[in-house]
Amino acid sequence: MKIVAVVSAKGGVGKTTLSANLADALAQTGQRVLAIDLDPQNMLRLHFGMPVQDVTGHARATLAGESWITSIWARRRALVMPFGGLNDADLAVFEQHLATHPNWLKRQLDQLGLSENDIVIIDTPPGPSCYMRQALSCAHVCLVMTLADPASYAALPLMENLIRTYCERRPDYLGQALVINQVDMARQLSKDVVQVLRDQLGEGAIGVIHEDQAVPEALANDRTIVDHSPRSQAGEDIRRCASWLQQHLLGKATSPQ
Ligand SMILES: Nc1ncnc2c1ncn2[C@@H]1O[C@H](COP(=O)(O)OP(=O)(O)O)[C@@H](O)[C@H]1O
Ligand SMILES: [Mg+2]
Repeated sequence: MKIVAVVSAKGGVGKTTLSANLADALAQTGQRVLAIDLDPQNMLRLHFGMPVQDVTGHARATLAGESWITSIWARRRALVMPFGGLNDADLAVFEQHLATHPNWLKRQLDQLGLSENDIVIIDTPPGPSCYMRQALSCAHVCLVMTLADPASYAALPLMENLIRTYCERRPDYLGQALVINQVDMARQLSKDVVQVLRDQLGEGAIGVIHEDQAVPEALANDRTIVDHSPRSQAGEDIRRCASWLQQHLLGKATSPQ
């Protein structure tokens, strides 16, 4: 099992969009992949057309002492595990449980019986939280998401510190890549931020996803972009990220996009 944490210091940068679409893009190549929603907003499932009123998920299963397996949905080719709906009081109990059980996520994943080559993608809420700590504590790879704007750029050191604390000392940690989302190369600011980050981190550590109306349109249709508009710019960008991830994690050669 290879674990990928999708993280960011700031909210609204495209983590849930990337998590859902990476899972679907990887699944389209025949890869076995499980996407887990670790954000109480419980939005990941909407990209896979799950009913809004359905509140099942791993958080409820954890509180009820049930196995996580009952919370896994097979959606198209990917496996998806929603967070589930919790009221405020239950959420506080759940978060306390995570704070006092730092290896909760890894233990749960180990019990799912996934094989060596299966990929787990974890969507997280922004900034430091008990959810992000759980994800970072077991991730083999982190995808750090940012927008091509000054505020997101300024927030990047916060993520670097968290990764240093929770990931870089582990021998099984493979590294991180930065994914710059909603890039519009017609805007000078976008161009400048992408260039500065390429200069700092090197070409191989950067993924770019362009701003594309196909992204909100796909969600409005309860689908992923790679399913709804596979030939869109964002669809192509996400498939390229999926190939990179597969090669990086499994050393697998993927077919050219
Ligand atoms: N590449 C993109 N082009 C256009 N809109 C995007 C793109 N990526 C994300 N969005 C939109 O940005 C908003 C935030 O995305 P989301 O994935 O929910 O971010 P996060 O999970 O980081 O809060 C959503 O409305 C989404 O449709
Ligand atoms: Mg989100």
